[in-house]
Amino acid sequence: MTWLITGGAGYIGAHVARSMVAAGERVVVLDDRSSGLVDRLPETVTVVEGSASDRALLDRTLAGHAVSGVVHLAAKKQVGESVEKPLLYYRENVAGLTVLLEAVVAAGVSRFLFSSSAAVYGVPETGLITEETPCLPINPYGETKLAGEWLVRAAGRAHGISTACLRYFNVAGAAAPELADTGVFNIVPMMFDRITRGEAPRIFGDDYPTPDGTCVRDYIHVADLAEAHLAVARRLDGAGAGDLTLNVGRGEGVSVRELAEVIGEVTGFGPKPVVEPRRAGDAPEAVASAARIADEVGWTARRGVREMVESAWEGWCLRHPEARAAERP
Ligand SMILES: NC(=O)c1ccc[n+]([C@@H]2O[C@H](COP(=O)([O-])OP(=O)(O)OC[C@H]3O[C@@H](n4cnc5c(N)ncnc54)[C@H](O)[C@@H]3O)[C@@H](O)[C@H]2O)c1
Repeated sequence: MTWLITGGAGYIGAHVARSMVAAGERVVVLDDRSSGLVDRLPETVTVVEGSASDRALLDRTLAGHAVSGVVHLAAKKQVGESVEKPLLYYRENVAGLTVLLEAVVAAGVSRFLFSSSAAVYGVPETGLITEETPCLPINPYGETKLAGEWLVRAAGRAHGISTACLRYFNVAGAAAPELADTGVFNIVPMMFDRITRGEAPRIFGDDYPTPDGTCVRDYIHVADLAEAHLAVARRLDGAGAGDLTLNVGRGEGVSVRELAEVIGEVTGFGPKPVVEPRRAGDAPEAVASAARIADEVGWTARRGVREMVESAWEGWCLRHPEARAAERP
């Protein structure tokens, strides 16, 4: 089998590529390098530079490498930016996906995995989110992920493609320091960024109806997430059966205050977090039910929050050597 991984030079994509290569799969990466780093990838991986919505390039790549499955991670992913630039997000994440799916159908590729997100659920009323929890996204980013799922499932049904939509919860950690997330959009790098500047991490709201008043989330180690992709990829039979929609999380809630405590211990940063007002659109609690993915493909997360923070910190310090305690302002 040869898998095409779009966005494979990105944070999650590079982990997926490494897991698949380690498991003996052939991998080709298609990435426009808008946020990806090709040096994250093993040398055995062929890298095609360009857009995942360039039809001519897709046709050449799918045929030239005899691709039999696609893992589609390439996307715009910043919630705030999606509110300011919804047309860009719909063009990249939805219109771009239709082009990719047309190429997939034309090339007879029969397996398709799609990176979705817990953002499709919006602000759910229930703390424990199953795949049956209503999808009511509250920003254009989440809308484009939900529309992407509809596209993928509809194309799969109509054209005999086995599909899977994976709804990632809060991704953190790194399998190796050089693979770490370089963006500062998620809570762990945001707290590292404050600490590096000698400022206490921020907690947005401590008056939520949760045990310690701060928001509760489900954090998943990116290495576990990569293994989930491999397990799901192997489950797709390529005969049109599938249509899987799966949460990918640990099924365990961790509060922002608990996370900040682990971050303080790992980084050696003493000052307590500062509490600021709530942000609009933050659900009090969002924890995945991880039962369906365990039943369907036998995958369960193995790594805990401390391992996520420790590995993320090693990666952060590689790119920000001044973050180490002795060097901080
Ligand atoms: N990081 C998270 O916490 C998280 C959570 C839920 C879902 N996701 C989804 O996972 C996927 C990967 O996220 P990530 O955190 O690895 O982001 P990332 O920015 O590190 O990776 C995205 C990769 O896609 C490439 N890319 C972007 N647009 C492209 C295009 N049009 N053509 C070709 N390549 C393109 C970028 O260069 C980059 O290598 C995204 O679809 C994102 O929405 C991420």
